[in-house]
Amino acid sequence: AESFKYDGNKGQGGELHQKAGDGYPTMTTAQGCPIHDDQNSLKAGTRGPTTMEDHVMREKIFHFDHERIPERVVHARGYGAHGYFEAYESLSDITCAEIFQTKGKKTPVFTRFSTVAGNQGSPDLARDVRGFAVKFYTQEGNWDLVGNNIPVFFIQDAIKFPDLIHSAKQEPDRGFPQAQTAHDNFWDFVSLSPESTHMLMWIMSDRAIPRSFRFMEGFGVHTFKLINAKGEMKYVKFHWKPKQGLQSVVWNEALKINGADPDFHRRDLWDSILAGDFPEWELGMQIFDQEFADNFEFDVLDATKIIPEEQVPVKIVGKIVLNQVVDNFFAETEQVAFCTQNIVPGIDFTDDPLLQGRNFSYLDTQLKRLGSTNFTHLPINAPKCPMRHFQQDGHMAMQNPKGRANYEPNSWEADETNPRACPAHGFKSHNEDIAGQKVRHRSETFADHYSQARQFYLSQTETEQEHIRDAFTFELSKVEHLPIRERVVSHLLNVDKALAQGVAEKLGFSEMPAPAEAAMPTREDLSV
Ligand code: HEM
Repeated sequence: AESFKYDGNKGQGGELHQKAGDGYPTMTTAQGCPIHDDQNSLKAGTRGPTTMEDHVMREKIFHFDHERIPERVVHARGYGAHGYFEAYESLSDITCAEIFQTKGKKTPVFTRFSTVAGNQGSPDLARDVRGFAVKFYTQEGNWDLVGNNIPVFFIQDAIKFPDLIHSAKQEPDRGFPQAQTAHDNFWDFVSLSPESTHMLMWIMSDRAIPRSFRFMEGFGVHTFKLINAKGEMKYVKFHWKPKQGLQSVVWNEALKINGADPDFHRRDLWDSILAGDFPEWELGMQIFDQEFADNFEFDVLDATKIIPEEQVPVKIVGKIVLNQVVDNFFAETEQVAFCTQNIVPGIDFTDDPLLQGRNFSYLDTQLKRLGSTNFTHLPINAPKCPMRHFQQDGHMAMQNPKGRANYEPNSWEADETNPRACPAHGFKSHNEDIAGQKVRHRSETFADHYSQARQFYLSQTETEQEHIRDAFTFELSKVEHLPIRERVVSHLLNVDKALAQGVAEKLGFSEMPAPAEAAMPTREDLSV
């Protein structure tokens, strides 16, 4: 209230003036020119045409016209917060990653939670996967752990991702429905992609309607590598365990909350942080070696499979605490650019074909979404450690390298502005023997789409199993093309007979379909 000074209705138009004065800050244009009246355009006469000369109005409207940038092609709706990661112990024997070297070491983080399929304005309680993306601003570069709240994924190869997402978003002719799971295209796609079956069990479970971001787990999903200072490699799966516990709502509640407060999840995160009730998640690692990978009954490069915690326990290595809301939603939460390719010495990729495709996709889409190769100059994306390189120019370059040298090799003296690559400490990809034919083929070791789906279903309590059955029934009841319903049930028969029968009965099937063939259907199968 202090910053307003009304001087009442003035002039024939009855316009209301709010004026700077008495030490109140003066409004300016983006060029810094003080503004004398921000509410009336410059006209030729009080009732005459607006002049081209009105630089104040033109600048204001020009900027407004360009406020929107493309929303993320997936995970468009999200909410972020700042915090820190604290290491519980040194992991220097298994990784040289800087953040894991010293017990008690704190590293700043930014975390963004999201839904996948809905557009930016969609409700928070949709039945959907939740994104759980963490940017660690380490002293050796930004490490992004871009995960989800479900440990497996729908597909095994990134080349299928555009199809998965097309099928899950609004149908292209009619532009609805928004709900990921409640329509023919989605169920058509997943029923023709048996590899989705395990993920379907999770997404029809209560995990897909978390009570809030604070009460959900997170997973890196893929197998990654940890590399120590000697260059030795161990495999790792990353987990986030909420210290608040794991809680979901039931479908009935989700619908009511969506109606009453579609911002329920983002409001919950904002309110709890402002109240000083900072949410925390512990970082866990399942660490295993090549021998385990070679003997495990599934392929550790297959993102539709988990490694049971009974076989490789989760070692808790640290925690994140989210203790600061953003200053500005757009500048931080919208403009943050997570990328699986942002990796640091001590952590490396595996050949998981889903991960390999992601490494291309994020950077590529962010060039379009954020409009310039220089989006790393935005404070939310900029590393918080020294940066020295010869990349220059481009749209909106804000930190062009200083000094004469902008190429390598050069014979100018090495200094802060003239860096050199460092064989001892620079990021070095793990040496791995690779041999084989160049083929477009899915490994046989990626088959068996049903065993872990069954394992997950049977691990649920009776009530949870009931929720899964009801969710399948509800979602499939929205599918108009009946052969799609049957195809889904034919997969469920390979998971659990009672589940398949329960769904079929509730959907009013007159007879049960035959169990699905496990292999991917061919074009010929479909035309029969
Ligand atoms: C965005 C997770 C698979 C492409 C995201 C985000 C998360 C995520 C959490 C939101 C990041 C944010 O908050 O800004 C995952 C997980 C996957 C997966 C866990 C599988 C294990 C894929 C695949 C592709 C892909 C296979 C493409 C081949 C994208 C794109 C975005 C995105 C293009 C938007 C990025 C942006 O505009 O900034 N993903 N994703 N994702 N993902 Fe994925």
